[in-house]
Amino acid sequence: MSLDKIDLGDGLRTSPQGFGAMALTAVYGGTDDDSALATLEHALDVGVTFLDTANVYGNGSNEELVGRLLARRPGEAQVATKFGVSGDIRTGRRTTRGDAAYVRECADESLRRLGTDVIDLYYLHRVDTRVEIEETVGAMAELVAEGKVRHLGLSEVTADELRRAHAVHPITAVQSEWSIWSRDVETHVVPAAAELGVGFVPYSPLGRGFLAGSVGTQIPEGDMRRTFPRFDADNLDANQVVVETVRRVAGDLGVTPAQVALAWVHAQGERWGLPVVPIPGTRKAARVDENLGALSVRLDTDAMAALDEVSDAVVGGRSADPLWVSSGRE
Ligand SMILES: NC(=O)c1ccc[n+]([C@@H]2O[C@H](COP(=O)([O-])OP(=O)(O)OC[C@H]3O[C@@H](n4cnc5c(N)ncnc54)[C@H](OP(=O)(O)O)[C@@H]3O)[C@@H](O)[C@H]2O)c1
Repeated sequence: MSLDKIDLGDGLRTSPQGFGAMALTAVYGGTDDDSALATLEHALDVGVTFLDTANVYGNGSNEELVGRLLARRPGEAQVATKFGVSGDIRTGRRTTRGDAAYVRECADESLRRLGTDVIDLYYLHRVDTRVEIEETVGAMAELVAEGKVRHLGLSEVTADELRRAHAVHPITAVQSEWSIWSRDVETHVVPAAAELGVGFVPYSPLGRGFLAGSVGTQIPEGDMRRTFPRFDADNLDANQVVVETVRRVAGDLGVTPAQVALAWVHAQGERWGLPVVPIPGTRKAARVDENLGALSVRLDTDAMAALDEVSDAVVGGRSADPLWVSSGRE
């Protein structure tokens, strides 16, 4: 397994698998800061250095947690954070904002919470469709010119939004949901990213735990997964065929379901001709090791065919609001 850094895009070198910190402040169940920090430290120890947070996670407390790690381990991580969404992501009551003044305000707040002078990768979390994307990205480009940000990224953009943004300032990476059960990005934005030389950062590559087999048949109250149609009780039932296929492939290869789900995502880089760096999240240090093990898993033709085929069987959207994700606006 090679943990050599790869060029995600525009010269940003990251570990080949990243770490998503979102659930280190409660969204999929309880958390505590000490074990969250231990998990983050473990990620750095084993070479997972590309860390993903956002200003809206834990209403700022997720960035503060990452900031505590950076204070302990300066210079070891490539940190990505995001702005543009406010409200409560757990309940789905949130909104977008992308005007220039807000971009500057959010960046300064994130720098303060992270306790750093510069953000390695700064993403627009969601496009504010009331604002021209040129204005939002123009303000983000000023942050680069001022030395507050090194690279720019966009989350859940359409191919057209990506092209318009890239014309204002080089975009290093697109971050969108991409996994065995979320493949809509393959129609427009993945080919556009490949054409423009933009890297891809698949979020929720384990299907928010579903593909790893760690989601039960009932989602508890207060768990963010309740807001997504595919996790409704009936859909969850129908979707068991997906996780059963992942389990079967894992059994055949003698690896775990999480490793199969991640190996499928890693394989998309070769398939589509662009750098692909997924950011699985976990509260547990041992699972960081397990997930990293996916880098050594080769899915043969039969395994890929079975996983590709079962993705057509998925029931229920990945967002209750189709416009919240790129495919709804393509
Ligand atoms: N840009 C966006 O709009 C957006 C949206 C969603 C997420 N993200 C980013 O993407 C990152 C990852 O996404 P995610 O956290 O939603 O979903 P994910 O990485 O697909 O799955 C996380 C879930 O899987 C479980 N898990 C992790 N490793 C496992 C393993 N080896 N075996 C069994 N279960 C395992 C975790 O439970 P435990 O904690 O119990 O291990 C957790 O519930 C986030 O942290 C965030 O940084 C971005």
